[in-house]
Amino acid sequence: MDLFDLIVIGGGPAGYLAAERAGHAGLKTAVVEKRALGGVCLNEGCIPSKAFLNSAKYYEHALHGQAFGVTASDVKIDHAKVVARKNNVVKQLVSGVGMQLKRNKVTVITGEAAINGKCDEGFKVVVNGTEYAAKKLLIASGSVPVTPPIPGVKEGLASGFVMTNREILDMTEVPQNLVIIGGGVIGLEMASYFNSIGSKVTVIEMLNKIAGPTDAEISKILLKNYQAKGVDFKLSCKVVGVGTNDVSYEENGEVKSVKADKVLLSIGRRAFTQNLGLETIGVYTERGAIVTDDNMRTNIPGVYAAGDVNGKSMLAHTAYREAEVAVNHMIGKKDVMRYSAIPAVIYTNPEVASVGETEDTAKAKGIDVKVANVTMKFSGRYVAENENGDGICKLIVDKKYNRLIGVHLIGSYASEMIYGAALMIETELDIENIKELVFPHPTVCEVIREALFEL
Ligand code: NAI
Repeated sequence: MDLFDLIVIGGGPAGYLAAERAGHAGLKTAVVEKRALGGVCLNEGCIPSKAFLNSAKYYEHALHGQAFGVTASDVKIDHAKVVARKNNVVKQLVSGVGMQLKRNKVTVITGEAAINGKCDEGFKVVVNGTEYAAKKLLIASGSVPVTPPIPGVKEGLASGFVMTNREILDMTEVPQNLVIIGGGVIGLEMASYFNSIGSKVTVIEMLNKIAGPTDAEISKILLKNYQAKGVDFKLSCKVVGVGTNDVSYEENGEVKSVKADKVLLSIGRRAFTQNLGLETIGVYTERGAIVTDDNMRTNIPGVYAAGDVNGKSMLAHTAYREAEVAVNHMIGKKDVMRYSAIPAVIYTNPEVASVGETEDTAKAKGIDVKVANVTMKFSGRYVAENENGDGICKLIVDKKYNRLIGVHLIGSYASEMIYGAALMIETELDIENIKELVFPHPTVCEVIREALFEL
């Protein structure tokens, strides 16, 4: 029986990074992956969707460049080609992960891993009928889409009429009518792309706002932008059934239906812990997710969990950091996971990015705040590059400590600007200290500096 210092279950962002770091630190490490290295993020999530959205951006620029002095005729988008390019991008990155693992002397085992109890050395793991042993385990098995018990959903998923993030990114045709159930991150990014390339998109969302926990004002601006582009939003609506060419929903007690050629189901994800053999060693779960402490330890000494499977923050960048914290704990390096400054981005056009508290969450925690709310037009570059842009930048400041605790942006480059804000929050910079920082000019990020002086 092969003995490893560490077996990592799952080769997504948490798993592959943990394996890389552990290998680098000299641990004899194996990572087990049943599908493809890179997990959902690389193969059917973050990366493929960004490839799609960038193609849409090129297309829109060509179509709507008149105000910028650009006219083009006969502009077309070839969706099948977009999918093919996306496949190349994915292939390139997945092979890069493989190379990194090799460089760090990690053994990659292909197959579905199941824990099979303890042994003298630590834990037994079975893959394709072969048993391995490991002194430590890291569970990074990720998450799967939530599939609600709505009549017709199961049948639709089986027939291909209903898709999740996995299938929609491989679909080569452009549906005339695309109905999206759930106006969260996946729903909005896909609504953005398919709206750009010509589908009639309807988003059915049960809350009265889109983009879930996003700042309410920013959520409204985003809604307005996409309504103007022709996306139909059915807010405060509950889906009650999926047919073979329509979706029915309840609005103010009345059942209505909307025509669909394809349906995207994007109502959230849940931790994946099925068939992992957690019960053979007694790993504790709560509502399906593995419970972890701030060192990413489970209740079983020597067993860690990182990424979506612990259900804390289902984001690839959280997973990376959790993976590092877990490995650092294993090798005796002091480190601890903090969740207060994790940025969140929605790659729509305009982009939305936020970090820390919103006015609402701060209020709920009883924090007395000051808020600066400025238009992105405070940035010269923003005005130079946008026609009638309605982006805003909001800063939330803890009055008592004069410290930034939240930044919320909608507008160009928001995704690239937010890490700076996260840094200011994470390092607990005082507002007066931030005012002393020099921002490059002309950039859109200057808006953050400008907003500070509005407090
Ligand atoms: P989500 O949690 O972002 O949004 C789900 C939406 O569906 C919510 O607005 C919810 O109110 C709504 N909903 C729930 N049940 C419903 C129902 N029966 N009918 C209508 N609406 C319903 O989940 P989503 O978009 O599926 O994304 C899954 C995960 O993937 C998230 O945790 C997200 O963080 C992650 N992700 C992150 C991205 C990013 O960082 N840019 C991109 C894509 C996904």
